[in-house]
Amino acid sequence: MSAPLVELSAVRKTYGAGTEVEVEVLHGIDLALAPGEFTALVGPSGSGKSTLLNLIGLLEPPTAGSYRIAGRETATLAEGDVTALRATHLGFVFQFHHLLPAFTATENVLMPGLIAHGPVTPERRERARDLLRDVGLGDRLDYLPRKLSGGQQQRVAIARALSLAPPLVLADEPTGNLDTHSADDIFRLMRRFNERSGTAFLIVTHDPRLAQRCDRIVELIDGQIAGDAPNLAHRPE
Ligand SMILES: Nc1ncnc2c1ncn2[C@@H]1O[C@H](COP(=O)(O)OP(=O)(O)OP(=O)(O)O)[C@@H](O)[C@H]1O
Ligand SMILES: [Mg+2]
Repeated sequence: MSAPLVELSAVRKTYGAGTEVEVEVLHGIDLALAPGEFTALVGPSGSGKSTLLNLIGLLEPPTAGSYRIAGRETATLAEGDVTALRATHLGFVFQFHHLLPAFTATENVLMPGLIAHGPVTPERRERARDLLRDVGLGDRLDYLPRKLSGGQQQRVAIARALSLAPPLVLADEPTGNLDTHSADDIFRLMRRFNERSGTAFLIVTHDPRLAQRCDRIVELIDGQIAGDAPNLAHRPE
């Protein structure tokens, strides 16, 4: 088996440390994700799924334990290295797309590259447009987000997450506010990138039907991993 892409051991997360409302929401998480894995993260509301995703996404540090990404222990990294690792290794898709409303679909997809590498080059622009064509938005390249449907906006968000070709995409309820049909489309799209480019996905979902279409299902209950198993029922899309 190849070296894990990310590896958490005994990770804990406490909010409000040192205050009256101190609360530990993750209680010793051990989890490794391999390159190319397509994993569902499920569990009741409040069980800590988003918190775990934020830790893996280097958006917040763990309170205790060790988190390694691409073999590097994150606790000892300088802020600049964390930012660089986030840009090169991680893509994000959220329930509400968080597209920048004043920018077109193409410009939104160009944004991570602009932040990580500076001014846009013609090659990067063409790649952004190719990605948008790939997600079925070839005729919407210069539309503003508000002129797109929810499903189309989520497609832009996926193209944006993939724009720097990260080995891992973290998706927090990416289909949460979509109808069943659009949710299916978005899910199939992620699976296609997974199969074609070997991009690993960790997808939070409340939809058991979608979880059943992942290769592995990790279940979080009350801040602890209550289940973690390969999903043998999965059929290729
Ligand atoms: N910034 C914060 N400060 C204090 N407590 C927080 C903070 N963020 C989350 N929590 C608490 O941590 C727990 C886990 O929250 P989290 O958002 O990770 O759950 P979740 O599994 O994603 O839930 P949902 O399915 O509803 O999105 C909850 O009890 C929540 O109230
Ligand atoms: Mg959540």
